[in-house]
Amino acid sequence: MQPEFWHERWSSNRIGFHRDAPLPLLVTHWPTLDLPADARVFVPLCGKSLDMVWLAGRGHRVLGVELSEMAVRQFFEERGLVPQVHATAAGAHHVAGPYELIVGDAFGLDAAVLADCAAVYDRAALIALPPALRRTYAATAWRRLPTACRGLLVTLEYPQAEKAGPPFSVEADEVHALLDADWRVDAIERRDILANEPGFVAEGVTALSTVVYRVERRG
Ligand SMILES: C[S@@+](CC[C@H](N)C(=O)[O-])C[C@H]1O[C@@H](n2cnc3c(N)ncnc32)[C@H](O)[C@@H]1O
Repeated sequence: MQPEFWHERWSSNRIGFHRDAPLPLLVTHWPTLDLPADARVFVPLCGKSLDMVWLAGRGHRVLGVELSEMAVRQFFEERGLVPQVHATAAGAHHVAGPYELIVGDAFGLDAAVLADCAAVYDRAALIALPPALRRTYAATAWRRLPTACRGLLVTLEYPQAEKAGPPFSVEADEVHALLDADWRVDAIERRDILANEPGFVAEGVTALSTVVYRVERRG
């Protein structure tokens, strides 16, 4: 998936992945992480997700990274916020209130940028990437998060032969293969969502589940 793919999705407003409310699985499971309210949360491949607004509503600071400047601009505009912008090697940092969103490549963030993230939230990020980029993503952004960082990873599972991604199906075996070296990974909920996803049914998908993992960075 080249950056152009995503820029084209944003410029043509084909952003079916964007939800107009926080993800119910986030609302259910985030409190079980028992994080301090002011913990900083890393949201990779953040789009303009309202999950960031929900996290900020709990008192968290949010560090997002997103390739699309259009997505980041829309996020702030829709909140009525005017961000301060400064550039670093990571990209263009847009800062307002509890939000710092970097217009840049998640794979290029170094450990210093991520150093004070006590938490991570991955929804529609790992599953947005094809297999080779998933390995790059795990070996860069995820590996560079600090010890004891904890959070949630939300995936989809469906017969990949029935539909082309994104979103891709990422099975539990792959999640463990990608993350187990650095992270403790526990599946905490698996839910059949096929009936809620008519788009998948229309494309011929016969089974669809979402899985929530609790993750914690090892020392
Ligand atoms: C499927 S969308 C999900 C957005 C968001 N997580 C949500 O739940 O609405 C994936 C997003 O990742 C962005 N993206 C893709 N590759 C990226 C990369 N290497 N670094 C930063 N953002 C990236 C895309 O522009 C797109 O907005």
